[in-house]
Amino acid sequence: MIQPQMPETKNWRFHRDVEQLGWLTIDTPGPVNTLSREAIAELELLVERFEQLARSNELAGIILLSGKDSGFIAGADISEFDAMSDFSVLPDALRRTHALLARIEQLTIPVVAGIHGFCLGGGLELALACHYRVAVNDDKTRIGFPEVGLGIFPGFGGTGRSIRQVGPVDAMQIMLTGKMLRAGAARGLNLVDKLVRHRDMLRWEARKAVLQKRRSSEAPFHKRAMAMGPLRGYVANKMREQARKKARQEHYPAPFALIDLFERHGDDWQAMIAGEVDAFVPLMGSSAATNLRRVFFASEGLKKQGTKGVRFARVHVIGAGVMGGDIAAWCALRGMSVTLQDLDMERIKPALDRAKKLFRKRLKKKHEVDAAVMRLEADATGKGVGRADVIIEAVVEKLEVKQAIFGGLEDQLKPGAILATNTSSIELERIAEKLKQPERLIGLHFFNPVAQLPLVEVIRSSFNTDAEIGKGAAFALAIGKSPVVVKSAPGFLVNRVLMPYMLGAVERVERGESPELLDAAAVAFGMPMGPIELMDTVGLDVGKSVATELGHAVPEGSRFDRLVKDGKLGRKTGEGFYKWVDGKAQKGETPAHADLAGLGRELVKPLVDMTEVVVAEGVVANEQLADIGVIMGTGFAPFLGGPLKARQDGRV
Ligand code: COA
Repeated sequence: MIQPQMPETKNWRFHRDVEQLGWLTIDTPGPVNTLSREAIAELELLVERFEQLARSNELAGIILLSGKDSGFIAGADISEFDAMSDFSVLPDALRRTHALLARIEQLTIPVVAGIHGFCLGGGLELALACHYRVAVNDDKTRIGFPEVGLGIFPGFGGTGRSIRQVGPVDAMQIMLTGKMLRAGAARGLNLVDKLVRHRDMLRWEARKAVLQKRRSSEAPFHKRAMAMGPLRGYVANKMREQARKKARQEHYPAPFALIDLFERHGDDWQAMIAGEVDAFVPLMGSSAATNLRRVFFASEGLKKQGTKGVRFARVHVIGAGVMGGDIAAWCALRGMSVTLQDLDMERIKPALDRAKKLFRKRLKKKHEVDAAVMRLEADATGKGVGRADVIIEAVVEKLEVKQAIFGGLEDQLKPGAILATNTSSIELERIAEKLKQPERLIGLHFFNPVAQLPLVEVIRSSFNTDAEIGKGAAFALAIGKSPVVVKSAPGFLVNRVLMPYMLGAVERVERGESPELLDAAAVAFGMPMGPIELMDTVGLDVGKSVATELGHAVPEGSRFDRLVKDGKLGRKTGEGFYKWVDGKAQKGETPAHADLAGLGRELVKPLVDMTEVVVAEGVVANEQLADIGVIMGTGFAPFLGGPLKARQDGRV
């Protein structure tokens, strides 16, 4: 078979087989496929050739596959976005890519995409320009538009094509939430046309699709009708309402710009694509998008920490309270075999019940839930210690108790096992000082609720070496958490910066200011929750003890002090600064305020000041780590890029 003359490409491979099928494989430099400017320019050359071959009947169809195990395509190349934000290059680049995808769609021969693993953003936009999509129906397939998380929306024609393909309501939902769909869900929405069980079946199914000239069908009329006539304005308003519940337009403009675009052109997919450019360009250069990209790369950077090649299979958690129980459940959810130790079964049972709820919520399929339940074992006698790769202590915050526990198990440990405490307030050196090998003890500080907060502070004591810390970070990554290494100093990073912010707000409440107003102001600034609601959520007893540990004694007779003494500890007891019903703070009217965000800035200032102190003291290695740590541990406004970036930009 004589191969046609093809352009030289670094990101694509092409060959034509005896059936005149063209096999196009994307394999870009790096661990995942991305659509860089170079990859797109090369695809332009290839498509030109495909057009010629199709005209001369030398090509029966094209099958687009990925040459990487990691997946299909993870989107446009985000590392080029800063340079691409330039108004002088971006509109042209977008129009050129629009034209390229339109040419693929207009090829007279069938073009079929075979998808495994990640198919995101620009990757999905390219797949949607193909005539038919086959995807592997396994756990790794993830299909979606994560762009809103980067402060933009799909810009390679994905807005219009997804609406055409799945209908306006579902398409907008996918784009507005950034949710990554599994194969079954994507098929259910008509985003893909056919599922196969294994990756090695993709080629065969895609080949059949080409030979049979299969073409995907568009969304049915009743779905498309939701974007027609006056209904579209109504639907757009509903979407705005939903979007406002999640984010403020002044902080995250992208979802709102997308809804505006839909309102203008949602009934005409081509007009929607054409309108993308003008709406997209200002977003790309916005400070929110720039900061969100910084956050993306900073969190990618966290994945590079940790000793490579260490395997963790068994975890032993001591203490089945809220933190210990939830840490054990999380580890079991993420595939570890876990033993959970406490004095007796009565104390362990509530943790097992909570774990089951978590498994049901996250895993859904019965056999997976059952397997996770099996992985989590109650262990009242501590028999799991000697087998564990990781031991995490999460008992009451009392030095003597912790010292006794670690002293008692040091001789039973497997060589190389991680020995960790989840203490949030006791200096590691003091817990470790009685150990024969004090260098073994590290801190793994999880945050409550464990299942929701991605951060784990890996605490380094003056005894530790890089070896223990590297392993600790590797373990955090192994259970899907993001590690930030922090020096053992009171409050570590997150509690240290949160306390002055929360106590500052509490003091204002003591002086008679409205908790509702303070909370609303912090949210208007960009915090996920106000400081008073946060104090109630954390628990006033916990807040008081961390405050005391950090040298901010709670004044006798203050409202805070009285609440603690009365057992009104916040959310968990049904009352703190607020009354709580069904896990919700019962707030009264928020008093009017002329500059809510300004007040929010004032409230957040102590947090930012303290982040500067923490970096200056070397508690975290650098500003970027402090920023990402505070974002992940407190939810601090990601669109501002973290407290220090916000200060640099004069935003606080
Ligand atoms: N552009 C540029 N680089 C990307 C990228 C993209 N779209 N997607 C992933 N990468 C890079 C990562 O930065 C990382 O680089 P590094 O090894 O130099 O740090 C590498 O690819 C591997 O990614 P990683 O996140 O470690 O792999 P993972 O398996 O944990 O996660 C993804 C894979 C695809 C889920 C994740 O990387 C991701 O969310 N990517 C962004 C997807 C996106 O937003 N696409 C839309 C862009 S418009």
